[in-house]
Amino acid sequence: KHFVRALAGISLALGLGGGAWAQAPIVIKFSHVVAPDTPKGKGALKFKELVEQRTKGRVKVEVYPNSQLYKDKEELEALQLGSVQMLAPSASKFGPLGVKDFEAFDLPYLFDSYDDLHKVTRGPVGASFLKKLEPHGITGLAYWDNGFKVFTANKPLRKSEDFKGLKMRIQSSKVLDAQMRAVGAIPQVLAFSEVYQALQSGVVDGQENTPSNIYTQKMHEVQKVLTETNHGYIGYVVITNKKFWDGLPADVKPVLEQALKEATEYADEASKKDNDDAMEAMKKSGRIQIVTPTPEERRALKKAMLPVHKEMEGRVGKPAIEAIYKAIG
Ligand code: LMR
Repeated sequence: KHFVRALAGISLALGLGGGAWAQAPIVIKFSHVVAPDTPKGKGALKFKELVEQRTKGRVKVEVYPNSQLYKDKEELEALQLGSVQMLAPSASKFGPLGVKDFEAFDLPYLFDSYDDLHKVTRGPVGASFLKKLEPHGITGLAYWDNGFKVFTANKPLRKSEDFKGLKMRIQSSKVLDAQMRAVGAIPQVLAFSEVYQALQSGVVDGQENTPSNIYTQKMHEVQKVLTETNHGYIGYVVITNKKFWDGLPADVKPVLEQALKEATEYADEASKKDNDDAMEAMKKSGRIQIVTPTPEERRALKKAMLPVHKEMEGRVGKPAIEAIYKAIG
């Protein structure tokens, strides 16, 4: 009798009793720095929705937007330590980790269109970059689109002379640093969460970003002019802690992989529309003047920034840059 009771006790303690508490859910903390109403924010929420639906509560995805949990630099460290399980930093933010290939995405005037970009992110070159994260305890899962960058400042930035001496916020990328210096600006690395404040207080004079980021952070309310240059690209690398991912139960992992595939399609579909809508909303708001450079001005700015490609071969790696050129064709 004693034995039977003891056995029942043990099985309960092991969670074999079938109680609701029997199996603690697997929790995925997904931290990011932008607003929920952006391509990345939407992608993260779609992933949560699909995963929780399909695993029937066995996996819980907690999404923390707007740098609520961690800022740019801290979030990568937190992922490596296992304090969060998923992130989607922009490709510009992997340099400090020691993976410089992703900075190639920052090269000015590299991609002419989303089609060009997808030839890289959806092909073998993109996959080869993801592999480089493994030695850092990180598994690269997918690329998510955002869009093409424009400049904001308190004056139009049509030609390189307009940038002279301006303090411009950049992400932590040496390529972006070189790009700003190429036109005589003074680059300043700041976490995304600090940009609004820095623009408002005049710590920096301007910045570059996608319309969706500018609008959802209300940067257009503290900057006078947006110049539609589309001179570069911002997009994301969805990553996870390798140990966590490798340790997922065999029946759970494929469900997460499928959910991520669908969330990727969802985020990519949202990206162009979100950026177009944000431009429209800013125009309508009347809070910021929108300036469109002439074709000659575009050509001149491109000419001033293009030498950055050659200059950055030593930093990013010539093979990475050439692989991208080749993929684009
Ligand atoms: C930025 O820092 O400007 C962007 O990378 C933010 C983001 O995640 O889109």
